[in-house]
Amino acid sequence: MDDYRSRAQAGAEPGAWDYLEGGAGAERTLAANVAAFQEVTVVPRVLVDVTTVDTAVEVCGARLAAPIGVAPVAYQRLWHPDGEAATAAGAAATGTLMIASMFASARYEEIAEAGGARWLQLYVLRDRAILLDLVARARAAGFTALVVTVDTPRLGDRRRDVRNSFAIPPHAQSQNIDPETMALTGVPITGGSALATHVGATYDPGLRWEDISWLADRTGLPVVLKGILDPSDATRAVDAGAAGIVVSNHGGRQLDGALATLDALPAVAEAVEGRIPVLVDGGVRRGVDVLVCRALGADVVLVGRPPVWGLAAGGAEGVAGVLGGLRAELELAMALTGRPCLADLTPAMVRRPSR
Ligand SMILES: Cc1cc2nc3c(=O)[nH]c(=O)nc-3n(C[C@H](O)[C@H](O)[C@H](O)COP(=O)(O)O)c2cc1C
Repeated sequence: MDDYRSRAQAGAEPGAWDYLEGGAGAERTLAANVAAFQEVTVVPRVLVDVTTVDTAVEVCGARLAAPIGVAPVAYQRLWHPDGEAATAAGAAATGTLMIASMFASARYEEIAEAGGARWLQLYVLRDRAILLDLVARARAAGFTALVVTVDTPRLGDRRRDVRNSFAIPPHAQSQNIDPETMALTGVPITGGSALATHVGATYDPGLRWEDISWLADRTGLPVVLKGILDPSDATRAVDAGAAGIVVSNHGGRQLDGALATLDALPAVAEAVEGRIPVLVDGGVRRGVDVLVCRALGADVVLVGRPPVWGLAAGGAEGVAGVLGGLRAELELAMALTGRPCLADLTPAMVRRPSR
């Protein structure tokens, strides 16, 4: 993973690299996500037959080779000319769930050509007509669930992007939404963020629980809510008819000071009581991190930046390298902990610092 990351950085344009790597504010939450995994340890069992280790899983009808998915990351042609089409190909080749960002720089139909399990992420824009149009296209292209991101009523304060006057260059623009709606993303602002201006102008900051039910009713697709950290919100999501939730702080890019997702996961999983799938993302870098998330109640574990490192370093093959490596590490960790089935992974095997 580190090798892919170094190669990715060497080839990336500096502003695009900062957009990928950066977080909000002082980047405390960004660091906390990764640090939380470094602080946990795992207690192995021995003399268990691990001749066969089974990592396969099904989530909301999607069959996966391992409980691993690609988190939505916007504008991927910033890092490779094939962008999301290559990411989807790498995901499909490794049996990984692909969640395409609403702001993909490849057309949803191109992403679908890879043929793997695929969901589409959406932000709820003020203009609901745009949203419903995108949903119809995604449905036709075989996306089987919607992931609605609910942690972004405004954009987090991403200092690196402000310092770089970062804006999305023409080659990496959204290929799915009309250029007028996306126009502000391409206009650099001195001492400001083009993306924050775009979010302020187009996203609906008045979004509430009723809107989620409306979307689920109108689209007929399962709706997964991304950006849940509080157990009460998790319960509310179940009541609102969500098909799943993603425990996420947006990779430390929204509220700086928000708790690490690994610290949020156990209480959220407990509140959900298995009624809907719980996904998690933020700071997952190793197979053993996936194992720890599963043990603490996650059904599927997403990675955001790592597949992009693979993409930037080597296109679809690089993505497959990162995702296949993660799965191989998970399988090895299951064998070495004497847990040949995902169901064997339980909270008791994880030691966490008391917080
Ligand atoms: C460059 C970048 C762009 C992102 N774009 C989106 C997006 O369009 N929609 C969304 O819901 N989350 C987006 N995210 C957040 C990721 O889906 C995910 O929550 C986060 O990256 C997980 O943390 P990790 O990178 O440590 O794995 C983005 C993250 C990054 C790094």
